[in-house]
Formats: sequence, C-alpha cells, structure tokens
Amino acid sequence: MSETAKIEIGGKSYEFPVVTGAENEKAIDIKKLRGTSGCITIDPGFKNTGSTTSAITYLDGENGILRYRGYPIEQLAEKATFLEVAFLLIYGELPNKKELADFKASITNHTLVHEDMKQFFEAYPAKAHPMGVTASMVCSLSTFYPESQDPNRPKEAIDLTIHRLIAKLPTLAAMSYKNAMRHPFVYPKNNLGYCENFLNMMFSMPTEDYEPDPVVAEALNKLLILHADHEQNCSASTVRIVGSSQANLYASISAGVSALWGPLHGGANQAVIEMLDKIKEDGGDLEKWVAKAKDKDDPFRLMGFGHRVYKNFDPRAKIIKKACDDVLEKLGVEDPSLDIAKRLEKIALEDPYFVERGLYPNVDFYSGIIYKALNIPTEMFTVMFALGRLPGWIAQWKEMVENKEPIGRPRQIYTGETERDYVPIEKR
Ligand code: CMC
Repeated sequence: MSETAKIEIGGKSYEFPVVTGAENEKAIDIKKLRGTSGCITIDPGFKNTGSTTSAITYLDGENGILRYRGYPIEQLAEKATFLEVAFLLIYGELPNKKELADFKASITNHTLVHEDMKQFFEAYPAKAHPMGVTASMVCSLSTFYPESQDPNRPKEAIDLTIHRLIAKLPTLAAMSYKNAMRHPFVYPKNNLGYCENFLNMMFSMPTEDYEPDPVVAEALNKLLILHADHEQNCSASTVRIVGSSQANLYASISAGVSALWGPLHGGANQAVIEMLDKIKEDGGDLEKWVAKAKDKDDPFRLMGFGHRVYKNFDPRAKIIKKACDDVLEKLGVEDPSLDIAKRLEKIALEDPYFVERGLYPNVDFYSGIIYKALNIPTEMFTVMFALGRLPGWIAQWKEMVENKEPIGRPRQIYTGETERDYVPIEKR
C-alpha cells in the first residue's frame, strides 16, 4: 500500500499521498489540502516546498552529492565537454558520436546574431552592467524569431530555438563586454570549439592575433559544467514559473538571467572578489571581517559562504578550489586574493557560528579567482555563470513544458486592512 500522511486541523484529520523520489526522498502531496480543509501551506522562500518533480538533477545537500541525469558532477567535470553536458541535461542521455556531432554542427551554425542587434548594444552606456545587457539581449532574440512565441510548435522548431540560444548567448555575452570597452565586436569563428570561440570573441583584437590558451579553455569548460544545473534554485524556478505562463523560451531564460544577477545567487561570484579586494584594501584583518559577518546588526555577510541546500559542503566548491590552484599554477598567476580566500575559509570553518549553521564555501567562493586569472573582468563573472547555467535553464523549461505543468501561481495569507470605505481627499 502506498504511504500516506495525516494532517490534523481543528480536530479533523485529513489524509494525503506521500510522493517518493528515485533516491527515496519524500514529499507530502498537499494539492487537495485547501479543497478539503480550507487551509493553504505557507513557506516563504520555499525552504521546504517542492515546486515540481524533476528527472534532471539530483542534489543531496546533507551528503554533498550532485548528479546530472544520474552522472556524478565529479566525473562530468573531469571528463566531459560542456556541449556534451548540455545535451545530457536537455535531452536526458549522453550523446553518441553522431548525436554530438549533429548537436555541435547545429550550435556552430547559429552563432551569429542579427546585425541589427549591434544597434541595441551601441545605445547602452559604457558602464552598463553586462548582466543587464545580457538579460535584455536574450529577451530581444524573441523579437527576431517571433515564431518562438507560439507555445504549440513541433519538437523540431523548439529544438531550433534551443540551439539558437545556446549558440548565440556566448556571442551576446562577448559583445556586451566588447561594448563596455568600446572595442570593436569580434565575430564568432566556427572552426573553434565552444569555449575557444567565446574566448576569441572576448579577447581577440584587430591589432593582434589571439590564440586561445588550452589551459584557459579547459578551465572554462570545467567551470561551465560545474554551473550547468542546480535543480530548483532561484533562477531555474524563475525560468519555470515564467515559462509556465507559456511565455517563450527567450523571455523565460531572460528572466532567469535577471534572477541570477542578485548577489545572493549568481551575483555572489562578483561580490566575493569585491569583498576580497575590500578586505585587502582595509589591511587584511580577517578576524574583523568574520566578526562583521557574524554581527546581526551589520548587513555584511561572507559572500561565497552558505547555501540553501548544502549544509555540509558544496561538491562544486571542492572541485573549483582544486581547479583554482591548478589554473593559477599552470598560468603562473600569483593572486593575493587566493591567499586571503584560503585564510578566510580556514578561520570561518573553525568558527562555531559558521559550523553550527552549516555555512561552507559555495561554488562562487573560488570561481571568481579563476575567472580573474583567465582575464575575465569582474563585472562579467555572473555572465559566465549564466553561460554555464543556460543548458540547465533550458532543460528545466523543456521539462516543465513537456510535463504540461500548470501555471505557477502561489497563494498568500493576507495581512493587510480589512474592508473599509473610500475617504474623499478633503477628509483625509
Ligand atoms: N555570512 C554570514 N552569515 C550567514 C551567511 C553568510 N554568508 N549565510 C547565512 N548566514 C546565516 C544567516 O544570518 C542565518 O543566521 P541565523 O540562523 O542566526 O538567523 C543562517 O546563517 C541561515 O541563513 P539563511 O539566510 O536563513 O539561509 P538561506 O538558505 O535563506 O540563504 C544564502 C542561503 C546562500 C542566500 C546565504 O547563505 C547567503 O546569503 N550567502 C552569501 C551569498 C552567496 O554566497 N550566495 C551564493 C549561493 S551559491 C550560488 C548559487 O547557486 O546561487
């Protein structure tokens, strides 16, 4: 017999089915709670609420486990290419040789963006944050491909939209950087791999040849894989909820880019480097900054620390910390920020405040130091996260569409004024 859960409200008992996941995780299905008892559940920040069932990513925060479609993140980060992982997330299985070749060919075929888009870039101020530009550009793609707005398109047409987006996001991201520098745009080169092409569009100049360094391309490949999906996080949930209104893929992903921008989510990678710089400029008194992070009257938090789901360690941070050492050594970069970060981590990990709350370095703590070593400017860090997260967002959107999930529409408990009569202005 399938498991059930009983909820007692006002002396009356209601029974609900228990849903069990592939890894034995359990949830009480309360869809009918309001219909039977008149009650809703309340859970700000969705700390204990499953918004969906999903077959994409498995995450066990207590044990530091992360798997895409069943494959451990450690193996994928070590052995796979980003496009292989993108295929895996979006289509559910690792591609065979032909599937991967076709996928790469399709992505390569769509790397150019419409020439008219250049004018949008030129209208932005040089200081425009590249995340603002990227979110707008992704949404603007829907205006160039209006057929994407039809929610009932055949599979091939949806695949084309997906491939276009994967192909064009690196181009748009690099254009947002070049535009901020007021440097000429660099067009995609289709003889280069996904990471190499992005690096070329970022760093190539008309004045000198640029040869993407394999160490840099490999590091980028790893970082993109580590960021590729993370189940129902803030931006993925945003993508699903926007898409649930049948808004098109470009609009849904653009909303995801915006959600990622915040410093509590993907924007933390920029915030970490800014924090380390600030600590350095301030004289490097780490005890003082740790004390500030613990002080509830001080808004300062240790950026790159803590996670909603990981309460033991973030497996991505473990891989990134090692990659950080490797990349800096291979590139011969000496960055005092790395030393500060390591000392900060050590102090925090031994401090009861952080230990008791399960606050550990997350994926963003060391990623910025690698991006810096790769010469990626700080304001582009979150765009790099978006590049990596794109296949995850697409997979989440596609799953939501294919499962025909209902429109996302939470309820609330109203705490405002009860009914009162309008008062004319002269009497107020
Ligand atoms: N520094 C100091 N205290 C912290 C921190 C931190 N970084 N993170 C959490 N806390 C404290 C928090 O004040 C609270 O203390 P108390 O129980 O005494 O009120 C407790 O730890 C639990 O924190 P919370 O804010 O309730 O936890 P949450 O799950 O709502 O938030 C978080 C998770 C990631 C937003 C938060 O840990 C944070 O703000 N971290 C810094 C920003 C950051 O690095 N974000 C990147 C997350 S990983 C990349 C991604 O996937 O987005």
